[in-house]
Amino acid sequence: MESILVQLDSRSYSIFIDQQVFANASNNTQIINEFKALAQDKKLLIVTNDTVAPLYLEQTKTLCQQSNASHIEVVVLPDGEQFKDMTHLNRIFDALLEKQYARDCMLMALGGGVIGDMTGFAAACYQRGVDFIQIPTTLLAQVDSSVGGKTAVNHTLGKNMIGSFHQPKLVLINTDFLNTLPDREFAAGMAEVIKYGLLWDQSFFEWLELNQEALKAKQPQVLIQAIKRCCEIKAEIVAQDETERGCRALLNLGHTFGHAIETGLGYGNWLHGEAVAAGMVMAFQTSQEMGWVSQQVVDRVTALISAFGLPTTKPEDFSGETMLALMQRDKKVQDGQLRLILPQAIGNTVVTSQAPQSVLSKVLSV
Ligand code: NAD
Ligand code: GLY
Repeated sequence: MESILVQLDSRSYSIFIDQQVFANASNNTQIINEFKALAQDKKLLIVTNDTVAPLYLEQTKTLCQQSNASHIEVVVLPDGEQFKDMTHLNRIFDALLEKQYARDCMLMALGGGVIGDMTGFAAACYQRGVDFIQIPTTLLAQVDSSVGGKTAVNHTLGKNMIGSFHQPKLVLINTDFLNTLPDREFAAGMAEVIKYGLLWDQSFFEWLELNQEALKAKQPQVLIQAIKRCCEIKAEIVAQDETERGCRALLNLGHTFGHAIETGLGYGNWLHGEAVAAGMVMAFQTSQEMGWVSQQVVDRVTALISAFGLPTTKPEDFSGETMLALMQRDKKVQDGQLRLILPQAIGNTVVTSQAPQSVLSKVLSV
């Protein structure tokens, strides 16, 4: 069992990572004590969806029973990004109010990033803020969305536009959950894993190159090490910059390019991780054109990304002009200047508005 502490003063919390966190919890005094300290004599509400519930709800309930919770309720939402909205958020509030949950209740998110973001936002709002625990079940959620306290729902006019920062009290990462994850979702999560090496840690990138076959085979110990390193990096960044005024923006490497692809194609055609994968290659190509990194570096990055079956170019029928126009709508545009996360080397990235339009046009016209 691995553990990491996210250091945020009084809001610090542990992340536990194991192949079978739940099965081992009763033997592991650290997990069960921490869980009990949070859940004992509390009313718990588990929020999940109709794909994850048949797979993992029973074991989650068993863990709650072991912790002597006073009452357990469950809300099962429909599965999908299209349900990450105020209407479905209200179903969580309905359950809390109907069952007369008070401020000392605790919510538990059992699912991928959609369930994690919605449950976290419900916890941030209910009675001006209650506790919640993240139990992420996708690779993306285990390495990114369950850590760091970004919570939100979508609005018809924009993704994740209604939200807040609200840190969980505990994150339980059970890597065996990934055995039922569709291959395409696993690969999309690998894009986020590779992202950490590219933006922060060259030696982690090299480790990923060396261990790519073991990762593809989901070898438990290798998977645990990869997830642990991602969570360590995210914890380090969030501890320095919880509300994204500085280095947290680096976590968006590849995202300006990626969001343009997602928006242009219509959400749901490419998975977020797939768009970010192609976006990260484009960020490296932009740096190469600016003389910041060599072609050899671009080739290395492209090779690792494509080894996981991820795209490394924008969609074929997507023109450079369309892409550039969509990128100009990015949240990071300031005074008409496009600000990008660009690499100066593998493991070293900066936020910059120095990329000339001519360079971007060249990269995007390929
Ligand atoms: P998701 O939550 O939609 O999960 C993907 C699919 O996998 C769903 O169909 C889900 O039901 C299914 N699934 C989940 N776990 C499974 C399992 N173990 N076995 C089988 N199927 C399983 O998508 P995601 O990629 O986890 O998360 C994407 C969401 O996360 C987006 O809404 C995005 O905005 C958000 N996000 C948030 C942050 C953050 O910092 N808060 C960061 C990145 C992404
Ligand atoms: N996923 C980016 C962040 O948490 O800041």
